[in-house]
Amino acid sequence: MSEPTKTHFGFQEVAWDKKQNLVNEVFDSVASRYDLMNDLMSGGLHRLWKKFVIDLASVKTGDYVLDLAGGTGDLTRAFIPHVGKDGFVLLADINFHMLSEGQKRLDSKGYFQSVDLCQLNAESLPFPDHTFDLVTIGFGLRNVRDKDQALREIYRILKPKGRCFVLEFSKPTHPGFSKIYDFYSFKILPKIGKFIAKDEESYQYLAESIRKHPDQITLQTMMCQAGFPKVTFHNLTGGIVAVHIGEK
Ligand SMILES: C[S@@+](CC[C@H](N)C(=O)[O-])C[C@H]1O[C@@H](n2cnc3c(N)ncnc32)[C@H](O)[C@@H]1O
Repeated sequence: MSEPTKTHFGFQEVAWDKKQNLVNEVFDSVASRYDLMNDLMSGGLHRLWKKFVIDLASVKTGDYVLDLAGGTGDLTRAFIPHVGKDGFVLLADINFHMLSEGQKRLDSKGYFQSVDLCQLNAESLPFPDHTFDLVTIGFGLRNVRDKDQALREIYRILKPKGRCFVLEFSKPTHPGFSKIYDFYSFKILPKIGKFIAKDEESYQYLAESIRKHPDQITLQTMMCQAGFPKVTFHNLTGGIVAVHIGEK
């Protein structure tokens, strides 16, 4: 199948082969302040959204876990204590600067030798079929150019009965709430980006990319089409965020 020629970067239409560079520039720019901005922008809620995934994933001794588009490694750090010496956790991301920040945080927790880091593109995962028990992708899929391809790759590298957790912004379930959320996303959030991170554009992209991301049912359908026989989802904070779980 031939590649599309165009895709979107936030609300802009861009050439297919330019999109990943544009995304990479955003994360190059925000990497050093990423964690601080996450706390500020979400009022700390991202920690609760991630905790929901961590609790539901209930990683066990011996599990092989991939934290894909894992950035600064919040999920990775939560999984490490559970896998024991027979399991492992791999923190993987396309962006070197995000991984470097992740490494610093892992080192500061004394996890230097407990985790591997890998720079890769989610569209083409360098692992054999049936490798992992669990793949998480937290706030990452939205940024991937070919989401269907990434989902097929995740499915391929999971072991039979392996699970994939997609934690991502989604569509608020209450229409009245959407108006407040839009005001916050397009009027407040880029200003926080401007004053704290000195980077209004990246946070404008963040708001736009959330609106372009597939809603709950569309993503569920995409995961089924990628091969997952069973996909369920949970809405969090009124559907601002959703967790989709695909079981192989
Ligand atoms: C919003 S951050 C999320 C980081 C972390 N998972 C979290 O929840 O805090 C999105 C991450 O996706 C990564 N990313 C974007 N496109 C990617 C791709 N094609 N393959 C792998 N990682 C990608 C970015 O570099 C960035 O680190």
